[in-house]
Amino acid sequence: MIRITDAVAWVGKIDWELRKFHGDEYSTHRGSSYNAFLVRDKKSVLIDTVWKPFAAEFIANLEKNIDLRSIDAIVANHAEIDHSGALPLLLERIPQVPVYCTANGIKSLKGHFHTDWNFQVVKTGDTLNLGNRELVFIEAPMLHWPDSMMTYLTQDHILFSNDAFGQHYASELLFNDLVNQDELYTEALKYYANILTPFSSLVVKKIEEVLSLGLPVEWICPSHGIIWRKNPLQIVEKYLEWAKEYRENKITIVYDTMWEGTRKVAEALAKGIIQESPQTEVKLFNLSKTDKNDVIAEVFRSKAILAGSPTINRGMLTSLAAFFEEVRGLGFKGKKASAFGCYGWSGESVKMLAENLERSGFKVVGEGLKTLWEPDGEALKEAQQYGVEFAQQS
Ligand code: FEO
Repeated sequence: MIRITDAVAWVGKIDWELRKFHGDEYSTHRGSSYNAFLVRDKKSVLIDTVWKPFAAEFIANLEKNIDLRSIDAIVANHAEIDHSGALPLLLERIPQVPVYCTANGIKSLKGHFHTDWNFQVVKTGDTLNLGNRELVFIEAPMLHWPDSMMTYLTQDHILFSNDAFGQHYASELLFNDLVNQDELYTEALKYYANILTPFSSLVVKKIEEVLSLGLPVEWICPSHGIIWRKNPLQIVEKYLEWAKEYRENKITIVYDTMWEGTRKVAEALAKGIIQESPQTEVKLFNLSKTDKNDVIAEVFRSKAILAGSPTINRGMLTSLAAFFEEVRGLGFKGKKASAFGCYGWSGESVKMLAENLERSGFKVVGEGLKTLWEPDGEALKEAQQYGVEFAQQS
């Protein structure tokens, strides 16, 4: 337990070992945490729980702080099992305790656990009186699931934002002013880029809605990572920036290569970009050798990308195909792109890459650069020139 205010304590679990999240979809190099909170007023309320593997440990720790029978209510801000995973074990012990969640939360919790608990549906603006304080519920559909909501605690001025404003970042320090700022913002941006990008327009609307309620916010307590207590609205301002077609003066080149030809073309393209625009940061990533979620964060920060693959079996290498399956779902906006790749016979990869880029929301510029066989001096010069032109159009 870590005290946040006189009435509120963190009772979650820091998961230092976690290296993959959502199955194997999301890399978590710095671990994560499942933040749960105990609010004690005349009534005691538990906000969220932890992932199922830690359920027994969570309940044992919780019992050191409160007699479970004294818990008057549970708030399930979000039904995904990294936050609801301890509910079955907990509600075996205290089956009558009401569970406050959205209507979609009930569907999702029933879908996961096939149990009919004492659900209490709440909507935006509904409140729960705790004695001296109130909880105010704010639905937040698609941030990032249809059932998501946030809960605000009056008097202490805490926004329990669930996944929004979180990071997969394990730290015993728990508060934003105590941790390494580069690490914190690297993880916060990676989290936004990989999880919240598809919902950017809703992020802006929801933030504007919450701000319009005029509720003072002294703390933002997300369900992963550190708690924002020093200038907590800094992360809200960042989200507003990230949600509006965010881009820096940066071009990312993603590629894969069979016999080094496409790699050499990638490097020549980079040379051309730097020749034309020395201030632009250019980074190259071989997708078969690089963590895809880290690359997605780089793409998120970029104003443009180049995607390259040699042709194999009339298509592209699987690392590119898999990458675009994920990027398509994220739906980046406001970024330029072009395709390149070596070929020896049929040479379909460049056209297919361009189609993938377009389908993924990029504005494709140029015809694409097809390089026959191993690039020689002439071909590399042509690639460098393509890089120059791409920089001019980006
Ligand atoms: Fe952290 Fe959507 O669960």
